[in-house]
Amino acid sequence: MTHNEKSNLPVTEDAIQDRPQGKFVEGQPWNEVERVIIERRSIRRFKREPLPDAMIRRILEAGRFAPSAGNCQPWKFIVVRSPQILAEMEKDAVMMAKLFMWLLDYTRSRLRRIFLMPFTKLVIRLLPNQLHPVPFGLLQQIARDKTLVFHGAPTIIALLEDRRGISSPATDIGICGQNMVLAAHSLGAGTCWLGLIKLLMYLPKWRRLFGVRYPYRLNDVIGVGWPAGDYDGEVPREVQLVQWFEGGMKEPPRVERQGE
Ligand SMILES: Cc1cc2nc3c(=O)[nH]c(=O)nc-3n(C[C@H](O)[C@H](O)[C@H](O)COP(=O)(O)O)c2cc1C
Repeated sequence: MTHNEKSNLPVTEDAIQDRPQGKFVEGQPWNEVERVIIERRSIRRFKREPLPDAMIRRILEAGRFAPSAGNCQPWKFIVVRSPQILAEMEKDAVMMAKLFMWLLDYTRSRLRRIFLMPFTKLVIRLLPNQLHPVPFGLLQQIARDKTLVFHGAPTIIALLEDRRGISSPATDIGICGQNMVLAAHSLGAGTCWLGLIKLLMYLPKWRRLFGVRYPYRLNDVIGVGWPAGDYDGEVPREVQLVQWFEGGMKEPPRVERQGE
């Protein structure tokens, strides 16, 4: 057993030799890293028992080693595993979902459709990402008590973004979080990104508790734990039309359908 100087984590000789990097033969099966990337799915049912601390630290370590613009590392991590706090987060997030849907859900009656729709459409224009049809539908489900916000995850890792980061700190946070998600999956844990945490940021109580003030903002959170049963199902990926520029400046790119 040697020691990884940078992360202070023990590294076995076997682990060094098994590194799946640097080998490629056309048609070869997915290597370990590729399988983790391709086979990871969002988990929305967790066992109550949380992951051991050592495993959470390992997942955090994968995030800490993420690349970032100018190595600015514009992040701060928070681990929430108090059942009391998690229950209160769920309660408040559901309350906020109900409030938003009371204000915005014009599908609930004819009268609402007539009077509320123009207002809702305006708010959707102002918050197009937050109120895209997918989160809008999810908010409806939560408001009708048909699904949970945090899916009962026994641990939540919050990723705070330092807005002073170089170039695009939100991109750095995405990379950092995905490192964590992939590491967790490789260790047998389940994860789910939980963008609806933003519901809590409307309440000063949660901003105060998590220290969300300048220069930090809450980018997103990831729920982690032992999967309970299978994932919801395969979510299809679009075929991408990829342009390959291989000739001169005047030559049009060759378009390849990636994913077929
Ligand atoms: C930034 C981000 C936020 C997300 N927020 C939520 C969420 O609030 N609730 C949820 O159930 N899933 C959430 N997801 C999970 C996505 O729905 C999921 O990744 C997507 O449908 C693809 O499915 P897969 O992860 O199983 O491959 C989020 C994913 C990302 C990347």
